[in-house]
Amino acid sequence: MKGIILAGGAGTRLHPVTLAVSKQLLPVYDKPMIYYPLSVLMLADIRDVLIISTAEDQPLFQRLLGDGSELGMRLEYAVQDEPNGLPEAFLIGADYVGDDSMALILGDNIFHGPGMSDFLRDSRRDLDGCVLFGYHVSDPERYGVGEVDENGLLVAIEEKPQQPKTNRAITGLYFFDNRALDIAKNLTPSARGELEITDVIRPYQQEGRAKVIDLGRGFAWLDTGTHDSLLDAGQYVQVLERRQGVRIACIEEIALRRGFIDADACYRRGAALTKSGYGEYVMETARREREAR
Ligand code: G1P
Repeated sequence: MKGIILAGGAGTRLHPVTLAVSKQLLPVYDKPMIYYPLSVLMLADIRDVLIISTAEDQPLFQRLLGDGSELGMRLEYAVQDEPNGLPEAFLIGADYVGDDSMALILGDNIFHGPGMSDFLRDSRRDLDGCVLFGYHVSDPERYGVGEVDENGLLVAIEEKPQQPKTNRAITGLYFFDNRALDIAKNLTPSARGELEITDVIRPYQQEGRAKVIDLGRGFAWLDTGTHDSLLDAGQYVQVLERRQGVRIACIEEIALRRGFIDADACYRRGAALTKSGYGEYVMETARREREAR
C-alpha cells in the first residue's frame, strides 16, 4: 500500500499566518502539523509516501523530511498547482501508486486515540473496496457525511449537506483499492467547482464495498482550519504530553517501534535536535530501547 499526504491549498482561513508558509508546516504544539498525518501512515506500516504540496512549499517539506531514509521511509514529492479537490491527489499520484492500493490522508487532519495502530493495520489487511473512518461531530454540515448500516457498510454519503442526516463526519483518512485511480480520472467537478472525494467513494458504496469504522468516544479527530481550532489542537497535544510524559506523533519513536530504524539511528535523530525537549525525548526513547535489549 502506498501513502499519499495531500498538503496543498492556500490556507486562506488562517491568513495572515499562512501568507508565507504552508498550513501543514505550522506548529501543533511541539512539531510541524504534517508529522501527525505522517505518523498515522507509519502506524499503518506504510513506508512509501508521496507528499503533495504547492510548488512554493515543496522545498520546505523536503528540507523538513528529506527522502525519509533517516526514518526508514521512502518519501517522494509532487506538486498540486491549484486546490481542485481531494481526488486530484489520485490524478497527481497515479504513476506513483502504480497498481498498488493507497491510503490518502489530508495533511491537516490530526487523529489521536487508543488502539489506532491495530485498527489501521487490520483495515489495511482486510481492504476490499474502501475503508473510511467516521467521527461524531457537532457540525456535520462542514464535512462529508455518511449513513451506515448495521454491518458498518456505507449506505449514503453527501458532501457538506445543508441538512445532514447523521452526525457522522467522514474524516480525512481513506483506504482505497487501486480502482480509485480510474474513478478519479472520470470525475467531473461539483457545483463547488471542485472534484469531490465523496464522488470517488460513491461507486464503492453502491457496490456495498465501502466499510466505515467509527472512531468512538475518547478518540480525537481535531480540526486545524481556523486560528482557534489550531490553538485548541496544540493545547490538546500539550495537555496530554505534559501529563503523561510521552509524545504524540513522534515520528522517530514510531519508526523505532515499528522496526523501520534501529536505536542508533533514532538516537542520531534526537541528538541533531538536542536543544529541544523533543530531541531529548527522542534520545531517551533510543536509550530505553537499547536497555530493553
Ligand atoms: C474534505 C472532504 C470532506 C471531509 C473533510 C475531512 O473537506 O471533502 O468530505 O469530511 O475533508 O477533513 P474540505 O476540508 O476540503 O472542506
